[in-house]
Amino acid sequence: MELRALGDTGIHVSLLGLGTVKFGRNQQVKYPTGFSIPDDQSVTSLLHLVADLGINLVDTAPAYGNSQQRLGRLLPGSRDQWVIVSKVGEIFENGRSRFDFSFQGTLKMVQQSLRDLQTDYIDCVLIHSDGDDLRILRQEGVYDALCELKQQGLIRSHGMSSKTVQGGLAVVADMDVVMATCNLDYDDELPVFEAAAASHKGVLVKKGLMSGHVSGQKGVLASMRHILAQPGVSSMIVGTINPDHLRQNVQLLESLTS
Ligand SMILES: NC(=O)c1ccc[n+]([C@@H]2O[C@H](COP(=O)([O-])OP(=O)(O)OC[C@H]3O[C@@H](n4cnc5c(N)ncnc54)[C@H](OP(=O)(O)O)[C@@H]3O)[C@@H](O)[C@H]2O)c1
Repeated sequence: MELRALGDTGIHVSLLGLGTVKFGRNQQVKYPTGFSIPDDQSVTSLLHLVADLGINLVDTAPAYGNSQQRLGRLLPGSRDQWVIVSKVGEIFENGRSRFDFSFQGTLKMVQQSLRDLQTDYIDCVLIHSDGDDLRILRQEGVYDALCELKQQGLIRSHGMSSKTVQGGLAVVADMDVVMATCNLDYDDELPVFEAAAASHKGVLVKKGLMSGHVSGQKGVLASMRHILAQPGVSSMIVGTINPDHLRQNVQLLESLTS
């Protein structure tokens, strides 16, 4: 699997990353069909397969139920073979999301993520936007808190999973990594990709398969081709708990890059 630079962070990530929402949360999600959260044995064997296929990037969040705790317990191999991307700001409790983008709240949430992930550093922490990207960046304490955590060496890089073009452009200007949406139905955030490429910032693509609304070999291949054609892409994060889909995704991506 091809590794790409995550902007100018010094971190290298596999072109396909694993999204882990489905490791811990099956409420209030936008997937086309319901699903059961996989047991430990299934998660363990999926993570071994992920490593065997050359994927080193896992994307998680405190808002993904117990996804972080499960990765902490079940990620195989050594810590340094993985690039862990987590988030801050969204808390999912009792079937509902709430948000805390304060300075102290951010420090606390990242400390909790470090404990849950059983690690002493996180490779990248993204602000989990509620949609009001610019207000969060300009009026809350989260940005300063992430800079402090980076200075302390507890996180290696920071960024935002943004939802607007203006927000994405501000992230590219001030932070290391932007997570943005691109798929066959939605190209609105392409100016963010262009800006990130021009300033050597990391770009993680979310919802590339339209949260599962694209399927079939033809649809997945067309989606991947579309994403790879965009500038600046470091990695495409695809969520799956199905080993056959994982193998298929790697095979299709490699057919486009080799
Ligand atoms: N920060 C944010 O605001 C945010 C928002 C959304 C997503 N994300 C991150 O980005 C990741 C990806 O986003 P996403 O999960 O919404 O969407 P996605 O990756 O576009 O789609 C995931 C869905 O596609 C299905 N899938 C995967 N490979 C497939 C294949 N080969 N054929 C058919 N179906 C396939 C999966 O089902 P199976 O499990 O059955 O394979 C899953 O339901 C998330 O896991 C998360 O890490 C972040």
